[in-house]
Amino acid sequence: MYKLSVRTFFGACALLTASLLLQSATAQSVGLGIPVTEAQLQAFDLIVGPDGSDLPEGSGSPLQGKIIYEARCQACHGLNGEGTIDNTTLAGGDIHSETTPVKTVGSFWPHATTLFDFIRRAMPADAPKSLSNNEVYQVVAYVLYLNGIINQYAVLNKDTLLTIEMPNKDGFMDQSQIQ
Ligand code: HEC
Repeated sequence: MYKLSVRTFFGACALLTASLLLQSATAQSVGLGIPVTEAQLQAFDLIVGPDGSDLPEGSGSPLQGKIIYEARCQACHGLNGEGTIDNTTLAGGDIHSETTPVKTVGSFWPHATTLFDFIRRAMPADAPKSLSNNEVYQVVAYVLYLNGIINQYAVLNKDTLLTIEMPNKDGFMDQSQIQ
């Protein structure tokens, strides 16, 4: 009786240990249970709405942006935003063109706020999210300047960016209300 219960006890322990080992091996191999840090979450929380909601503090002018642009953007987008390969043309384009218009920031984009949102999250394409908020304001200002939308002394921040009227602002239909 005594022998049997000792054997049963050790048997149960062995089983338990084996099942715990198996569980932890499975958890590690599929990478379960790694907590997301606040900093990691913030890196995703970068959406700026067309109405300027969640634009951060900071500011910048085209003159400052020219320095960033030449160092970080020009290789792919050309000296004056004329582009290098497909889809990299940032300036020019005629919204009244009879033929298919060349779509650029100046001829197509309806909101300047979206330019901030896009550049902050996606550009430079070889190092997204590497610009500070001030640098994004600066380079946004320079791209708007290249499109003749603001002058070289304009200062952009979360308030002034909202006052910019994009040439194609009325070129879109809001289909969300159509039944
Ligand atoms: C390594 C190349 C590269 C670099 C550097 C780069 N871009 Fe781009 N950029 C691209 C490509 C490619 C696209 C087109 C992406 C697409 O069509 O999905 C693009 C698209 C864009 C667009 C959208 C154009 C449009 O009308 O759709 C903007 C604005 C832009 N880039 C700004 C910048 C700015 C500002 C910088 C510098 C801070 C920069 N890019 C650096 C490659 C680059």
